[in-house]
Amino acid sequence: MTTPDGQVPAAPGPPPGSPAGAAGPGPAADTVLDLRDVHRTHGSGPAAVHALRGVSLTVCPGELVAVMGPSGSGKSTLLTLAGGLDSPTAGEVHVEGQPLHALDRRGLARLRRRRIGYIFQNLNLVGSLTAAENVALPLELDGTGVRTARRLALDALTDVGLSELGDRFPDQLSGGQQQRVAIARALVGQRRLVLADEPTGALDSQTGEAVLRLLRHRVDAGAAGILVTHEARHAAWADRVMFLRDGVAVDSTAPLAGVDALLSGSGR
Ligand SMILES: Nc1ncnc2c1ncn2[C@@H]1O[C@H](COP(=O)(O)OP(=O)(O)OP(=O)(O)O)[C@@H](O)[C@H]1O
Ligand SMILES: [Mg+2]
Repeated sequence: MTTPDGQVPAAPGPPPGSPAGAAGPGPAADTVLDLRDVHRTHGSGPAAVHALRGVSLTVCPGELVAVMGPSGSGKSTLLTLAGGLDSPTAGEVHVEGQPLHALDRRGLARLRRRRIGYIFQNLNLVGSLTAAENVALPLELDGTGVRTARRLALDALTDVGLSELGDRFPDQLSGGQQQRVAIARALVGQRRLVLADEPTGALDSQTGEAVLRLLRHRVDAGAAGILVTHEARHAAWADRVMFLRDGVAVDSTAPLAGVDALLSGSGR
């Protein structure tokens, strides 16, 4: 395997001394994401908010998991923990066999840049960079040459239907176009874990479908994905659906089989 600029990437496997497999019955060896009984509590005492209360989830290459649940149920919290943007109060997060709590800031930043594509609910585009520069940024930060990064960024923008708009700044784009730039940024390069927080929120249904098809395609090519969505027809693109309520996983089901029942509140 080579990086987009032709270099052999650093081995993604566990670092020396990694406890992968040492702590009881571990997940399959090729598990990309492994959340082990994660909790996230904000604040303390009577004002504490228990955003997640003991959620476990493994996602393997080629698997897309939809996460559904009411507003405030912990969906974005789960994604920030999976992406190493926040740390659990208890429990562990492993990405490609690496326990995130064992990485220092630099190691975590490197893992995030190289291996994790994150589509934020609030997009987080850099306003002073053009669309193409936003998409190229994670590659350049990781040492990819400027020209290669630009070419890959334009390819990724083409994939989301924005080939003509690479030189526009975010404030010169519509909300849906900005969302597609954020998606291109998450998919550019060789991300193994793609985390999408309501990526179709600002898109018309046709563009939304196209974006989900892209996500599905990336996962079919060997990535692992999590898709947070409120819409059952979007969850239908996933291999299974995890349903959160009040920070707890209340059910996990094949899409279509039980999503509507869960959304209407007849689930556990
Ligand atoms: N920094 C924080 N401080 C305190 N509480 C927080 C913080 N971040 C999130 N929460 C709380 O944690 C809970 C879960 O929030 P989260 O953003 O994960 O919900 P969500 O399922 O993504 O909701 P939505 O569908 O509205 O995006 C909510 O009650 C929220 O208010
Ligand atoms: Mg959210």
